[in-house]
Amino acid sequence: MKSKNRRTFLRILLAGIAFFFVLIWNKLTFNHLEIIQKEESLLPLNKNKTVSFYKNYIVVTRNDKTNVFSAYCTHLGCRIGNIEMGKIVCPCHGSEYDLDGKVIKGPAFKNLESVPFRITPDGNHIEITA
Ligand code: FES
Repeated sequence: MKSKNRRTFLRILLAGIAFFFVLIWNKLTFNHLEIIQKEESLLPLNKNKTVSFYKNYIVVTRNDKTNVFSAYCTHLGCRIGNIEMGKIVCPCHGSEYDLDGKVIKGPAFKNLESVPFRITPDGNHIEITA
């Protein structure tokens, strides 16, 4: 009887710990748009390059469509500045993202954060509007 109570207590304790972990997981992972400073709000638009890396942003231009992502990995916040075999790769723990910012290999499980922007009327720059 005593052993059964102990097992029940341990199960409830483990379930509580798991529940707590799930609740705070989003808080533990970085919200990169909150930490990006607006210091880099006008970027040159290089139409001849599919992926351009800037201090805080990654610009992907293909098929006449441009996307801007945070340059910070959604795992633990390392700055990403590398593309390998057509994949955006985090240098810290190897998370990989496709050119749409979607996670294709962990440990990150969240997609790269999209950054709102507009292309300037002259078509030569990207203005970050976040
Ligand atoms: Fe990028 Fe860990 S910080 S994979």
